[in-house]
Amino acid sequence: MINWKTRYRDKLVSAEQAVRCINSRDRVVVGHACGEPPALVAALVARAHELSGVEIVHMVAMGPAKYAQSGMEESFRHNALFVGGSTRKAVEEKRGDYTPCFFSEVPRLFTDKVLPVDIVLLQVTPPDESGYCSLGVSVDYTLPAAQEAGKVIVQMNSLLPRTGGAKIHLDELTYIVEKDEPLIELKPPQIGEIEKKIGENVASLIPDGATLQLGIGAIPDAVLLFLKEKKDLGIHSEMFSDGVVFLAEAGVITNRKKTINQGKFTATFLMGTRKLYDFVDGNPDVELYPVDYINDPYVIGQHENMMSINSALQVDLMGQVNAEMIGTKQFSGIGGQVDFVRGASRSRGGKSIIALPSTAAGGKISRIAVELDRGAAVSTSRNDVHYVVTEYGIADLRGKSLRARAQALIAISHPEFRKILMVEAEARGLI
Ligand code: COA
Repeated sequence: MINWKTRYRDKLVSAEQAVRCINSRDRVVVGHACGEPPALVAALVARAHELSGVEIVHMVAMGPAKYAQSGMEESFRHNALFVGGSTRKAVEEKRGDYTPCFFSEVPRLFTDKVLPVDIVLLQVTPPDESGYCSLGVSVDYTLPAAQEAGKVIVQMNSLLPRTGGAKIHLDELTYIVEKDEPLIELKPPQIGEIEKKIGENVASLIPDGATLQLGIGAIPDAVLLFLKEKKDLGIHSEMFSDGVVFLAEAGVITNRKKTINQGKFTATFLMGTRKLYDFVDGNPDVELYPVDYINDPYVIGQHENMMSINSALQVDLMGQVNAEMIGTKQFSGIGGQVDFVRGASRSRGGKSIIALPSTAAGGKISRIAVELDRGAAVSTSRNDVHYVVTEYGIADLRGKSLRARAQALIAISHPEFRKILMVEAEARGLI
């Protein structure tokens, strides 16, 4: 009988050889965020001159995304499920597209063949004795896409941390490219005085024993700074970063009180520095699962005292949250915000928290706005929103009338804008 070790050898190729199977007009799904396989993406981009109309589907692109750079548009069309620093210009200049979709539902775009997948490029660890590889820091949509794809090409990287949870077997892979390479890292954000005050306000809402979801950025990280005195916190989060490691090492995060997946850090992807990657490597308490499990509001809602903490660009006086557009420009994406807002709403004792600085542009723009920018999307609806937090306080909007919401939101806006917000709210009949 031929065992997997023999089949493994048959699948070994160079990156250049592996990407030769990609044809013009194929749809290529790339492993997510810090799990992107740099060697495979570079080999694909090197074929730009001989390819046309290859669609590259990616969510948070943490690499240089050369396929989305100006001059590449004939070869590659970028389809962003989230817009980030390296892809924003392409989407703005119409060389790329943005496709709105709740993160929890992205796998179904592939499995229901709404977006049939030809090729998946991803990173895996070397196999264990049974031939199973860990997907390291990106399971999310990457594993479901791989299970649907015509061809699965992996960069096998021994520097990728071996995380628990979902795995992929060598038999599911088409080509294997052995290449050790340092992972893409997310540097810890700058946390200023405003973020610290917001963090402190948010932390005041979090009880001992709560399970947390934390979004990306300075505010979620600032919240963690104020949780040092809490007890027995748990993590069930779309992603987590270095801040969680510090609280785990300090004994604050134990996952003991989680209602499901007790004792485990559960997430769908990870972004951070080597400190995070070393913490999760071979750690039996860290489990990553596809995003249609982790971000499923029904799963999230089973946790008692589930706290979701996310940020926004603007909140209007009715409580509508815009977390993704600056005017008509797509700045980021919906990600898992609504998945977790809805999950936390279902949770007994749960709270969903939208935390944002009261102003933008050096204090010139109020982020608590009479209405959202013309052309901006509603990310979290006024029916879903619960707590909104700024450096000036906490507005609890659930069960509040439109009039009471407007008052509560004006009370946490920057003092410089309160008068004008009140005048405009009155003029529009909100108050
Ligand atoms: N009008 C004009 N500009 C605005 C603005 C507004 N209302 N609000 C923010 N900006 C500007 C800021 O000044 C900043 O500009 P700068 O980079 O030149 O300083 C920029 O937009 C980004 O704002 P910032 O508050 O720093 O963003 P962030 O990096 O903290 O990210 C979100 C905030 C909302 C974009 C981000 O959390 C997000 O994409 N959320 C949606 C997805 C999500 O919640 N996922 C959760 C699960 S992980």
